[in-house]
Amino acid sequence: MSILEGKGVTKYFGGLAAVSNVDFNVEQGEAFGLIGPNGAGKTTLFNLISAALAPRSGTIRFKGEDITGLSPYKICRMGVARTFQIVKVFADMPVLNNVVLGAHFGMSPGMSSKDAVREATELLEFVGLSAVKEIPAKDLTLANQKRLEVARALATNPELLLLDEMMAG
Ligand SMILES: Nc1ncnc2c1ncn2[C@@H]1O[C@H](COP(=O)(O)OP(=O)(O)O)[C@@H](O)[C@H]1O
Ligand SMILES: [Mg+2]
Repeated sequence: MSILEGKGVTKYFGGLAAVSNVDFNVEQGEAFGLIGPNGAGKTTLFNLISAALAPRSGTIRFKGEDITGLSPYKICRMGVARTFQIVKVFADMPVLNNVVLGAHFGMSPGMSSKDAVREATELLEFVGLSAVKEIPAKDLTLANQKRLEVARALATNPELLLLDEMMAG
């Protein structure tokens, strides 16, 4: 089954076609890589899928449902999570709370605080950040901030995880 499908996806910044008439299809269970030089439009495509940006034209479907133009939080709650090339951690919050927030925000918004903390703690173990979970996220190295974003994204319990340049370049 197709989990993510794009047809004719197009985004302009002024006169610049950052993403031009792109078709794609990602199957359930597939690890799908998007490659291209700097400026090719990879991040812009992620922004279109997660609705941080709206396309000029084209359609994006998640599990067959048209998600084009929905609010980002709705897309997240449907099961699409992402990380950011330029990290966007909640800088002054402890590492643990960044992930707890993901757990509360995602697919199970009614989750109890206790369960959210337990889940976040497990995910921080998984990404190797248990030892630094009490410090503010801004005090993590960049590599660890990227790990934190993976944990926060996973905490939303996604069916589709979008990783934008997890490693440098
Ligand atoms: N918010 C923006 N405003 C104007 N131009 C942008 C914006 N975001 C990206 N671009 C331009 O769109 C093109 C694609 O950028 P981007 O999606 O970041 O590429 P990649 O992630 O593949 O390096 C580049 O030419 C970039 O300068
Ligand atoms: Mg990019």
